[in-house]
Amino acid sequence: MTGNSSFVVVANRLPVDQVQTPEGTTWRRSPGGLVTALQPVLAQHKGTWIGWTGGTTKVGRPAPDPFEVDGMDLCPVPLSADEMERYYEGFSNSSLWPLYHDAVEPPVYKRRWWEEYRKVNQRFADATAKVAAQGAMVWIQDYQLQLVPAMLREQRPDLRIGFFLHIPFPPVELFMQLPRRAEVLKGLLGADLVGFQRPLGAHNFLQLTRHVLGLRPRGDSVELPDGRTVCAGAFPISIDFAEMERLATSDDVRRRATEIREELGKPATVILGVDRLDYTKGIERRLKIFRELLAEKRLTVPGAVMVQVATPSRERIEQYQSLRVKVEREVGRINGEYGRVGEPAVHYLHQSYNRAELAALYLAADVMMVTPLRDGMNLVAKEYVAARADNGGALVLSEFAGAAAELRQAFLCNPHDLDGVKELLLRAVKIEPGDAARRMRAMRRYLRTHDVQAWAESFLTALDRTGRPA
Ligand code: ADP
Ligand code: G6P
Repeated sequence: MTGNSSFVVVANRLPVDQVQTPEGTTWRRSPGGLVTALQPVLAQHKGTWIGWTGGTTKVGRPAPDPFEVDGMDLCPVPLSADEMERYYEGFSNSSLWPLYHDAVEPPVYKRRWWEEYRKVNQRFADATAKVAAQGAMVWIQDYQLQLVPAMLREQRPDLRIGFFLHIPFPPVELFMQLPRRAEVLKGLLGADLVGFQRPLGAHNFLQLTRHVLGLRPRGDSVELPDGRTVCAGAFPISIDFAEMERLATSDDVRRRATEIREELGKPATVILGVDRLDYTKGIERRLKIFRELLAEKRLTVPGAVMVQVATPSRERIEQYQSLRVKVEREVGRINGEYGRVGEPAVHYLHQSYNRAELAALYLAADVMMVTPLRDGMNLVAKEYVAARADNGGALVLSEFAGAAAELRQAFLCNPHDLDGVKELLLRAVKIEPGDAARRMRAMRRYLRTHDVQAWAESFLTALDRTGRPA
């Protein structure tokens, strides 16, 4: 039996969060690069998005009905409390997430997590098999769903299946740690095209098919024993440049940006960080750098202030809880030592914001610090550039973010080298307006054409070409 969607996006999350209000249940767009990237793409196609709503459902209850939001057909996949713990918080975010991010926190492996990961991936595959029309194009997203391509192909060999990994794909030596590594690779090989943020990810993946499965990759593809060919390539994701530019040049947002600077006490320098509260983002080190610069009096309050937005994320996972404690302790320490009544050194915001407020924050910031220890892409860096239609501001960007390969005119830093970052941050603070404008203009020129629409188009065009003679 087939469905009638000719284009299906399969992602762990639906592009909305369920929120309870006194009036009942409503849906709100959720934070995260994935949602930001795919929403405009889906709006262009007649498609269905299959994903989890974010809550838990009692075992045995039927799946929630499909529903529509902003013209998108959304098909919810339910998770029980146990599945959420073992598939989402466990295998996805305590094993895969740290392992794929260079093990910046030690990955945790528990045998009981794997079975739930497999079971939930099967549920996503079954739901997709039901809604996809004959010959439809299916685009599966990210590390939570690496088994879906093979599970789906098993039921629906007629489909054109693409997979895109939003996070880094680790080097061979690290991937070899993963229990069930062969199953994960075989899962991905169910796709016609496996996309990565960087060429190195595609390279690592193809090498692993040789190392673990004894296949013989050639160029950018590998042939399977059944004669099918799987292609791998780099497709660096981007942002909706036009939307961010439009927002940031609107009167309301510009007014709000001025107001934010006033609320901060009209400092000469506003340093901004915007990240999910995640240990890959390097928030602690960034705070430490700011503290040392204050201690050395190379920056002083209230002339320079830092705003750190730390979006709540994966709050039930221990490593995230302990990160929050450490970050908040550091913020308290800095404000205790260097703040005054009504004049904190760090403005710490553990909250979600709407796009307009984010755009205003970008516009209000003289220096944007994006200093992850490892990041697949980092959309915040690209959003900052898109927001700076005034060609103002400076971006300090970690070499360990995928975005560094494209935003070459940023102040590129090694986030492990604290002294190096301090020097770069000071250079960014003191940058000549002419130099800042030159750098920003070049980055904006690049992003204007390399936006999320171009990303989706290049992936889907490549997917469409797979299986055809060159
Ligand atoms: P990740 O996908 O790891 O969270 P990215 O930087 O690639 O990191 O993407 C984060 C996305 O979430 C960006 O589009 C950013 O605008 C959005 N975002 C980050 N913090 C907030 C926040 N506090 N409120 C709303 N959106 C946020
Ligand atoms: C990253 C991942 C996404 C994920 C997002 C938010 O961008 O690549 O797959 O959706 O973080 O994390 P969460 O666990 O809240 O979905």
